[in-house]
Amino acid sequence: MSKFHINGGVPLIGEVVTSGAKNAALPLLAATILMEGDTTLTNVPNLMDVITMVRMLKALGLNAEYRSPNIVKISNTKKVRHVAPYELVTAMRASFFVAGPLLAKTGLAKVPMPGGCSIGSRPIDIHLKGFKQLGASYSIEHGFVDLRAKKLIGSHVYLDFPSVGATENMMMAACLAEGTTLIENAAQEPEIVDLGNMLNKAGAQVSGHGTSTITIKGVTSLTGVTHNVIPDRVEAGTFMIAAAITRGNVLVKHVNTLDVEPLVVKLKAAGIKVEEVGNDALRVSALNGFQAVDIETQPFPGFPTDMQAQMMSLLTLAKGTSVIKETIFENRFMHAPELMRMGADIKLNNHIALVTGVSGLSGAEVKITDLRAGAALILAGLAAEGTTTVYGLKHLRRGYENMAQKLTALGARIDEIPETGAGR
Ligand code: EPZ
Repeated sequence: MSKFHINGGVPLIGEVVTSGAKNAALPLLAATILMEGDTTLTNVPNLMDVITMVRMLKALGLNAEYRSPNIVKISNTKKVRHVAPYELVTAMRASFFVAGPLLAKTGLAKVPMPGGCSIGSRPIDIHLKGFKQLGASYSIEHGFVDLRAKKLIGSHVYLDFPSVGATENMMMAACLAEGTTLIENAAQEPEIVDLGNMLNKAGAQVSGHGTSTITIKGVTSLTGVTHNVIPDRVEAGTFMIAAAITRGNVLVKHVNTLDVEPLVVKLKAAGIKVEEVGNDALRVSALNGFQAVDIETQPFPGFPTDMQAQMMSLLTLAKGTSVIKETIFENRFMHAPELMRMGADIKLNNHIALVTGVSGLSGAEVKITDLRAGAALILAGLAAEGTTTVYGLKHLRRGYENMAQKLTALGARIDEIPETGAGR
């Protein structure tokens, strides 16, 4: 596996264009299982997780091909298979998003339990409870969830927690159910809105997506569509923080400014300059440093958990002490010990991190444990004095398209070194 060498201390200057949203593309691809005919998705990010989902669709019997690195064409003409391969679900737990569409389309879905990952146990109890409320039954045997339903019946589905994945699975299952479904305590993330919009283009009757109550009137079939994936708000936020942590000046283009509002509020509170340029770009600069701010992750429209690690890197260099509370995942502070090795002053106590700003970070060898922790360590390396070597790039490739190239274009000194087998 290769590694990054980053020579820090260079203020990032220039423009960067964000890619399509990974966390929108994945459910959108799964939703093509529901549709008859051809669907073309544009602005698809060229990422490992998306490639895995395309492989999943092929394994289920759909024709899926890349027309370009960012355009995928799916043809759903034959009967789909209802068993999802183990090796693909373990490669990417979001593959569990195929359960709802498979159940709705075929009445059956046999999907491996996705299992946990480094940030948490990632249970699926909310998904399973929702499927039962829609009239399905299930058994768990040999590591597979075996779902079946002669016919899904529209009903009142209450989610114990506004789970993004469970909301998406319920939306897709309810589209072909008999009658009307109400999803209460639904997730409100922008990716949910994008999914609802695509489903409606395909002939579904979804309303309220983006609020905590989604109403879906079941229909008999959906047709293939052409749909453009929304911009990736987490990638955009990562580059906004890259501008601030290096005290640079960067125009981040191709971003729905409302989708990054929770981050913008916090950056401005820290004294960082953020200005909207048109309706799909933001200029971020922090020429005079920034102050500590407190962060508590919450479901959208609260501060996103997917930006917590990146924000922690920034706050290690803020004036004062910040309190960061992670309320979504049980183990999402793994970037903290690596930041401490770079000189950060962080005290951890369960779900709280006390981050006291230091005058500077020093480059070190660090290891990526999960996708967003990886982004956080790269951001710290961009600001640190000296060289930071970042191992574990496979995690990064799951969620960031051409990250090194985009940072280099902003002036960052970052080289990818093929791994020789030595090192951590
Ligand atoms: C989605 O994961 C995202 N992934 C995650 O992004 C994101 O962090 C998360 O939503 C929260 O915003 C994709 O969209 C592919 P959840 P998801 O169900 O759907 C608990 C990234 O870095 N829970 O909203 O799996 C769960 O354990 C990734 O891009 C249950 O208890 O998240 C967690 O504590 C990481 N039972 C909380 O809810 C369930 O049945 C939020 O999970 C489901 C979830």
